[in-house]
Amino acid sequence: MEKKNLDWSSIGFNYRQTDARFVANYKNGAWDEGTMTDDATVVISECAGVLQYAQTCFEGLKAYTTEDGKVVCFRPDLNAARMADSCRRLEMPVYPEDKFVDAVVKTVQANLAYVPPFGSGATLYIRPYMFGSDAVIGVKPSEEYQFRVFVTPVGPYFQGGAKPITIRVCDYDRAAPHGTGHIKAGLNYAMSLYPIVEAHRLGYDENMYLDAATRTKVEETGGANFIFITKDGTLVTPKSDSILPSITRRSIVYVAEHYLGMKVEHRPVYFDEVKDFAECGLCGTAAVISPVGKIDDHGKEICFPSGMDEMGPVTKKLYDTLTGIQMGHIEAPEGWIKVISE
Ligand code: PLP
Ligand code: COI
Repeated sequence: MEKKNLDWSSIGFNYRQTDARFVANYKNGAWDEGTMTDDATVVISECAGVLQYAQTCFEGLKAYTTEDGKVVCFRPDLNAARMADSCRRLEMPVYPEDKFVDAVVKTVQANLAYVPPFGSGATLYIRPYMFGSDAVIGVKPSEEYQFRVFVTPVGPYFQGGAKPITIRVCDYDRAAPHGTGHIKAGLNYAMSLYPIVEAHRLGYDENMYLDAATRTKVEETGGANFIFITKDGTLVTPKSDSILPSITRRSIVYVAEHYLGMKVEHRPVYFDEVKDFAECGLCGTAAVISPVGKIDDHGKEICFPSGMDEMGPVTKKLYDTLTGIQMGHIEAPEGWIKVISE
């Protein structure tokens, strides 16, 4: 397979149109077979549910080139299951989970030339999504939907890759108790645009959202879960019904326990205890594991002992093990790796 002639090391986290994408349509209560198309545009009613009432959800996962030249993706079954949860919460029809995985495989196979080579630092980001496509003017679910999957080669989500970032405690809320924070609804991201633009303008890389009800507990950022390391080397991850159940975080927890023999706690994390942690990081498909060096709480700074120059030592071990599994040079737990091309 001849690769596209891209400068893989400097592509950044941007959309780049590739050759083919998957499209399936839901009409009269059933999904059609779905097909690959080279048309990167979507034509829908001006009154479509997605345009009027934001009836849309999405997923994000990545395909990797392994050291021995295979193309694989990481735990796509969990993305399929999470998208099914999102659909149920948004009154959208579930796209069957096995067909979701097939669509991901087909879309990557049709764009193999865009899968960045092993060692390039880039990966192929896969974006499955669904939206209400027919006209709805009263507030109610659409009757017709489109499920699509496109791919785009990407570099690190945060400029500087593994360099520690600075975040701020955010005064806006991400998700209400009993709201939609636990699903991957487009509306969760629309509301985060104002706070992230403000954060960037003020010189921060990301926002730390606290729980909306009491503003005492750590939730997550706009696009990643938190991990913390205590001074005695325990991995602590915030537990809340209003954060997105990150597949990366769940995988890190497994890696910490089963590969690195670490103690793990998944529990509510009070903001007051954050100053006592030794290391802090963000985790997600796009973020991978991005170290946090500093948190600004309204002018009061929390500086982690790991500093602003490099990842803390425990975060680094987690990062190396997780990415080693994803890139194929550390043996993966059963069922984690889906081979797309040998
Ligand atoms: N939290 C939010 C709000 C996200 O958008 C994402 C990205 O998908 C994550 C966490 C990380 O989830 P995952 O590891 O499944 O990509
Ligand atoms: C992902 O990590 O896949 C996401 O959807 C997060 C987003 C900020 C790009």
